[in-house]
Amino acid sequence: MQATAVAQPNIALIKYWGKRDLPRNLPAVGSISITLSDLYTEVAVDLMPELPADTLLVNGTEAPSMLARISACLDRVLGAQRPRAAVSSTSNFPIAAGLASSASAFAATTVAAAAAAKLPLTTAELSRLAGAASGSAARSLFGGFAELSNAGDTIEVRPLRDIESWPLEVVVAITETGSKSTSSTKAMEISRLTSPFYDSWLQQQEHDLDIARAAIEQCDFAGLANIAEHNCLKMHSVMWASRPPMVYWNTTTMRCLQTVRRLQGEGCNVFFTIDAGPQVKAVCLPGEVERVRRALADTAGVQAIMTSSLGQAARVVARRDD
Ligand code: PMV
Repeated sequence: MQATAVAQPNIALIKYWGKRDLPRNLPAVGSISITLSDLYTEVAVDLMPELPADTLLVNGTEAPSMLARISACLDRVLGAQRPRAAVSSTSNFPIAAGLASSASAFAATTVAAAAAAKLPLTTAELSRLAGAASGSAARSLFGGFAELSNAGDTIEVRPLRDIESWPLEVVVAITETGSKSTSSTKAMEISRLTSPFYDSWLQQQEHDLDIARAAIEQCDFAGLANIAEHNCLKMHSVMWASRPPMVYWNTTTMRCLQTVRRLQGEGCNVFFTIDAGPQVKAVCLPGEVERVRRALADTAGVQAIMTSSLGQAARVVARRDD
C-alpha cells in the first residue's frame, strides 16, 4: 500500500518558540502562520511488511540521520505494530536551513502514511499527529492563515482566513544553503533554560497574537507588518541572549533587512520575518512582488530568490494498493 502527499511549508508571522511539554511537544506560546504555495515537499510512503527496517530517501539520497524522526512519526500515525515503510521525500527548496522544511516534510509524511493505511483521520487529528513530530507541521495541515494554540492538552490549529480573501505574496531570500547548526527543539530548550528574556517572551505573546489576529481580520497590512517584525525580532533576541547564544543570521541576512527597510522608506508594502536560519522572508502585497524580488536579488550575498503566493493545506496526490 502506497500513498504520496504534498505539503507546503508555512511561515510564522507570530512565532512559536518554546515548549510547554517536551514529551508531548506542546508549544509554550500560540503562533500564527501563512502556508506557502510554491515551495513544497512531496513524500511517498510505501508500506512493505517484508522490509526489515524503515528506509528514507531525501531528494534521492539515503538520509540515515533523519530516519529516527520519520520512523517515530510513522509509529504515531500507524501504531508501533505497523509494517515497515520505504519513505521518499523530495523538496524544491533547501532543507533544514530555516525554511520550515520540517513543517512540510512531517505534514506530508503524516498525510501520506494515513492514506497508505487507509486511516480515515480528520484534519484536526492529522494536524495533531504532524505537530507531535514538529510543532510547526501542525499548521501545514491548513492553507492560508492558521493559528496554533498553546491552550489545552492537545495540539490545536484553526484556520483564520483563506488565501483568496487576502492574497499576500512572500519573497524568500536564500542567503546560505547549508544546514542549520542547532535544531529548533534543542535551541528552544536552551532558550527556556538560559535566556533572561524567555519569561517576558511568553508573557507578551498573547498581546502580539491579539494584534496580529485583528490585523488579519481587517486586512491591515501596516498593522500586521509592525507586529510581525516586532515578534520576529523578540524571538531572535531571546535566542541571542541564550547561553550559548544562538545567532542564526549572517551578514547577508542583515543586508536583506536593510533592503526591506529601504523599500519601506520608499512606501513599499513589505515586511520581513526570519526563522531558525539565515534566510529572510519578505511578505508583501501582490502588486509589490516584482519590486521586492528585484531589490532582494540585488542585495550583496543573496544566493537565490524564491517567490510564493499563499497555498493550500497538505493533501494526498496519489494512492495505490499493491
Ligand atoms: O516546528 P519546529 O520545531 O521546527 O519549530 C519552528 C520554529 C520557528 O520556525 C522558528 C517558528 C515557527 O513558528 O515556525
